[in-house]
Amino acid sequence: MTRTRTAGGPYVREARADRLPSEGWPFTIPAVRALADGDVLDLDHPVTLLCGDNGSGKSTLVEAIAAAAGLNVEGGSRNFQFSTRTTEVPLAEHLRLVRHPGRRPRDGFFLRAESYFNVASEIERLDQEPDTPPLLPTYGGVSPHERSHGESFLDLVTHRFGTDGLYVLDEPEAALSVTGCMALLAQVMELSEGGSQFIIATHSPILLAIPGAVIHQLDEHGFERLEYDDTLPVVTMRAFLADPARFVHRLRAD
Ligand SMILES: Nc1ncnc2c1ncn2[C@@H]1O[C@H](COP(=O)(O)OP(=O)(O)O)[C@@H](O)[C@H]1O
Ligand SMILES: [Mg+2]
Repeated sequence: MTRTRTAGGPYVREARADRLPSEGWPFTIPAVRALADGDVLDLDHPVTLLCGDNGSGKSTLVEAIAAAAGLNVEGGSRNFQFSTRTTEVPLAEHLRLVRHPGRRPRDGFFLRAESYFNVASEIERLDQEPDTPPLLPTYGGVSPHERSHGESFLDLVTHRFGTDGLYVLDEPEAALSVTGCMALLAQVMELSEGGSQFIIATHSPILLAIPGAVIHQLDEHGFERLEYDDTLPVVTMRAFLADPARFVHRLRAD
């Protein structure tokens, strides 16, 4: 199959860190320490995926990347600057995104599973304001508050996202069924082939299978690039599905 790209490639090539403090959260997380030691997080691909166990630092990294890219760290686009809590992103100040000169995304969105509710409220609030074009049609026409969490996620990606954007997603599978994950995979493929860049933290063996995506796995040593078959979610899920009863029995024995 020949893939045609209408645009020139990713916007952000890599993330590096400058002068990181050595103490305190989040600077003690191994993946962040790796950046402090000079490791570079390679993002120079239409789709970069970050996986790793709970607590390995995926959200910390994607949040800092989103903040360094100028996206609202509570979720949303550049235009959404609402804040419901004091959002501090200490890592963002030290994170340096190396961009491709001359390439700027026209759109951007940071999707955090846990705060999409607030994004939905912000859409409704902005649509109450007079003299501004309605936002809701670009989100599929139905308020995310009136859709299931998973449905509104897919609305967002299908109707609001485009082919000239930088999209940072943190565990987008949280609200999605297996077929929902497959629909998201197809949409990410289409938009990234059209020129958008995606950086996604995920545990989903389905999303990890996005063709051509580069996977970095975070662990107690830092982060490393792995092939699909060697990643923790895929290895563990395969072992589980091969014989669920035995797996559960072993878990209980442990
Ligand atoms: N605001 C915070 N203050 C202190 N520690 C935090 C904070 N947020 C997350 N952590 C800790 O940082 C580590 C990495 O968290 P996180 O990036 O959310 O991991 P992941 O997304 O990979 O599950 C965890 O040990 C977590 O408990
Ligand atoms: Mg997380």
